[in-house]
Amino acid sequence: MSKLVAGNWKMFGNKAMISDIKKIDQHCKEKTCEVAICPPFPLISAAHEQTKNIKIGAQNCHININGAHTGEVSAEMLIEVGAQLILVGHSERRQDNYETNDIVKLKSEAVHRAGATAVVCIGETLEERTAEKTLSVLQEQMLNSLPESVTPINTVVAYEPVWAIGTGLVPETDQIRSAHAFIRGFLASTYGAEAHNVKILYGGSVKGSNAKEIFSISNVNGALVGGASLKSDDFIEIIKAASNSM
Ligand code: 13P
Repeated sequence: MSKLVAGNWKMFGNKAMISDIKKIDQHCKEKTCEVAICPPFPLISAAHEQTKNIKIGAQNCHININGAHTGEVSAEMLIEVGAQLILVGHSERRQDNYETNDIVKLKSEAVHRAGATAVVCIGETLEERTAEKTLSVLQEQMLNSLPESVTPINTVVAYEPVWAIGTGLVPETDQIRSAHAFIRGFLASTYGAEAHNVKILYGGSVKGSNAKEIFSISNVNGALVGGASLKSDDFIEIIKAASNSM
């Protein structure tokens, strides 16, 4: 399965940084792994217009197509301006915006309805890992935030341990391996054989220096990258590691 390296810019970036996206797009002119960047909403249209080889995504959407929901944006609107994938259930949204598994499920369904790919984020907190609840938390999140409509085309699962996000801490190789194997097992038992082709990304402090090792772990089909996606040279290092590991 080809790997996917997706950058999540979070609430960073400006118009001048479209040049970084262009540089990444140029790098991907040669055959590389699949690459996506999810900038803040106002940059999606320009990023889409300036790229040919990578996908542009969004970081969130509303559950409805339209309506009286001031300040919200629908999956359909995001697709119209160039988004092909949409992150849902990122831990920062679960924490800051009180998004529950039920809301994440409705958002995933909204992304599927609109015809884009939902990148559904799951992951345990440090307290949950310390209490040895990691796998039960992942199970609970997948059971309640993944809709019936999941296919390998419309869904990517991103495993992001909350304690590894933006901290420089990366789980042990065995911890990543066992979480990804558990996620694969859940997907296969819920959605059948075709779920073997659903990509499972790892996210949390991925950098050029640790990407090669992370990509060598079984059932790691790519990465969701925060901080290191904001500098094109750093992000290209990760793309190279993924491309070489195929
Ligand atoms: P960092 O790569 O900055 O740890 O962020 C990971 C993340 O949250 C991607 O969605």
